[in-house]
Amino acid sequence: MSTDAAIRTVDLRKTFRRQHAVDGIDLFVPRGSVFGFLGPNGSGKTTTIRMLLGLSKPTSGTIEVLESPMPASLADVLPRVGALVEGPAFTPFLSGRANLRRFDAADVRSVAKTRDERVQVALERVGLLHAADKKAHAYSLGMKQRLGLANALLAPRELLILDEPTNGLDPQGTREVRNLIRSLADDGTTVFVSSHLLAEIEQVCTHAAVMRQGSIVAQGSLDDLRSARGARVTVATPDPDRAVAVLQRLGVTDTHVEAAGASGALPPDLPIERVTAALVEADVRVRGLSASGSSLEDLFVELTGEGFDVAG
Ligand SMILES: Nc1ncnc2c1ncn2[C@@H]1O[C@H](COP(=O)(O)OP(=O)(O)OP(=O)(O)O)[C@@H](O)[C@H]1O
Ligand SMILES: [Mg+2]
Repeated sequence: MSTDAAIRTVDLRKTFRRQHAVDGIDLFVPRGSVFGFLGPNGSGKTTTIRMLLGLSKPTSGTIEVLESPMPASLADVLPRVGALVEGPAFTPFLSGRANLRRFDAADVRSVAKTRDERVQVALERVGLLHAADKKAHAYSLGMKQRLGLANALLAPRELLILDEPTNGLDPQGTREVRNLIRSLADDGTTVFVSSHLLAEIEQVCTHAAVMRQGSIVAQGSLDDLRSARGARVTVATPDPDRAVAVLQRLGVTDTHVEAAGASGALPPDLPIERVTAALVEADVRVRGLSASGSSLEDLFVELTGEGFDVAG
């Protein structure tokens, strides 16, 4: 992975009337990464993506895509970027295949001679071959989503920007999209993919940024993000209060007494063996002890706030 940026923004902002939909974000998407752009509904993901693609004008701030300033370099950059953004405009009375042929024909750089074959390959890659000749208006949401993806894949691209590509897909379809992203990344394509569901893309991402109400609240490699939160230790014991006292003495923070034991946040420099030894030494009856690497899911929930409320 290089240190070059496929996407870089500085203090990027979009304000609608008085609402700060995107509130000054510094995005850094390394070339070669699969970058998860995460955040709950209404946190500003689509607004950001539309600005990256020149579909909407920033209120302020700067954008570089593939090392070129945007939107100044739009004409040069866009052909190198495949995109799937909310609600792509398909012609309803044409088949999926015919829609793709039209989109490809509209691309000045596309080679007409290879069109049918490229359309066929794209349809196959997104698992839409069986429905390729059905009219687009008869497509289900998931089929439309697949058609949008196929459109992004008509030509080889350096960068793919996918806004919620798993939206409307069933679990099997979601798995297929993950595999597709993996295989694209293996080919060297940088993939920038948004989702409000961490679990759907966590397995394929190398990097992520977490949005909350227009701001980035965490960004970096997945390893960095995981270790930022640290691991927790859980002790199964009939003596939870005494266990907590021992844990606290060792520097464990955020301790809790639980139904069948105690838990706390393990400081990075405290080996789990020392916890075991100290508990035994203090005659705490230990039935089980585990240290869990914190899940990204926990971090995500912590950063974005739980619950189902969308950001106004
Ligand atoms: N054209 C617009 N005019 C006014 N407000 C807008 C407009 N587009 C987006 N917003 C507001 O900006 C905020 C961010 O919306 P955005 O669509 O970027 O969120 P999102 O993260 O993509 O959410 P979701 O997960 O639901 O797709 C929302 O509060 C939304 O209502
Ligand atoms: Mg959105």
